Amino acid sequence: MNKKLGLTALGAALALGLTACGGGGAGSNNDTADADPGDLTIGVAMPTQTSERWIADGEAVESQLEEAGYDVNLQFAGDDIPTQAQQIDQMITEGADLLIVAAIDGTALSAQLQNAADQGIPVISYDRLIRDTENVDFYVSFDNYKVGVAQGTALLAGLGVTDKDGNPTGATGPFNVELFAGSLDDNNAGFFFNGAYDTLEPFIEDGTLVVKSGQTSIEQAATLRWSQETAQRRMEDLLTSSYSDGSVVNGVLSPYDGISRGIITALQNAGYGTDAKPMPVITGQDAEIASVKLIQDGVQSSTIFKDTRQLAEQAVTAAEAFLEGEEPEANDTETYDNGVKVVPSYLLPVETVYAEDIQSKLIDSGYWTAEEVASGQSD
Ligand code: GAL
Repeated sequence: MNKKLGLTALGAALALGLTACGGGGAGSNNDTADADPGDLTIGVAMPTQTSERWIADGEAVESQLEEAGYDVNLQFAGDDIPTQAQQIDQMITEGADLLIVAAIDGTALSAQLQNAADQGIPVISYDRLIRDTENVDFYVSFDNYKVGVAQGTALLAGLGVTDKDGNPTGATGPFNVELFAGSLDDNNAGFFFNGAYDTLEPFIEDGTLVVKSGQTSIEQAATLRWSQETAQRRMEDLLTSSYSDGSVVNGVLSPYDGISRGIITALQNAGYGTDAKPMPVITGQDAEIASVKLIQDGVQSSTIFKDTRQLAEQAVTAAEAFLEGEEPEANDTETYDNGVKVVPSYLLPVETVYAEDIQSKLIDSGYWTAEEVASGQSD
């Protein structure tokens, strides 16, 4: 039972009093169970519009909440931490009854979330775990460690070291690989990198894979804000520092399609992508449309498909439960310790997509149309 919503009349009155004292003008969030959805507003804070996936997430959450009858206040923060903090402050001031937050920096929202808790506003952490605060009530995401395992496996399978299920083929290489990780302030980055590294490690140890740069720690591999440009620059630096002797890169572990596109640009600029110098095996994540086209064209090797429609659905289901005075159903109550508490979570499964899976996994499911895949652009 969510204590914040289980307030007695006295508690509700107190909370209202606090709100009034704070001068924020927020409505009561404590008796939402009896409220008409049309009288309730849900604040949805998304990190950025520079990535297809977050636009899709924002639209999916907004439309599904609106279908359920709620008012929605959807904001994107341009990957700027103070902007996101300010947007959440404003949602609370304007009377949000519940918050759904995909944080830019998972540790930077403590003041906002304390404010939300003081006013009895439940907070759902969306895809990225909000850290170092007690004031996060639920987490909806995918199995992020498994995403990493799937990326590591896709790299191995692309190189022919294992089959797609991860069974070794006996190929011994050696293959030159380089490793990229996501933004260290995003809790997911560690899960992805650990899942991938645990999968690759036996083959690094037996010499089948060689990380020629020697950069194998997450700190060395990290990409602040998941930036495509930053990834391109690091790939350029790696090519200069470690591959000027005529050796070639055979594979690149990339945690996210935007990063993969930066890596691809650096490689193309260095002459990769020809018969003499083929493109390395490159992984990805999110099935962004520009990258699905690159997979179709044989430039990128794979991506991990996380159906944002399903994630939005889980967020909406959890929101409805809270607003009806209930506790959402979790399927994981152990994995996601945010530094203060283990946050009850609902984790969705993920799928690897190679070129031959685009039709069955992305087009037949209605995620992208054949036309979008052919053009590399969403409608
Ligand atoms: C992560 C997310 C990934 C990817 C990345 C960059 O938090 O789980 O799917 O979108 O951010 O946006």
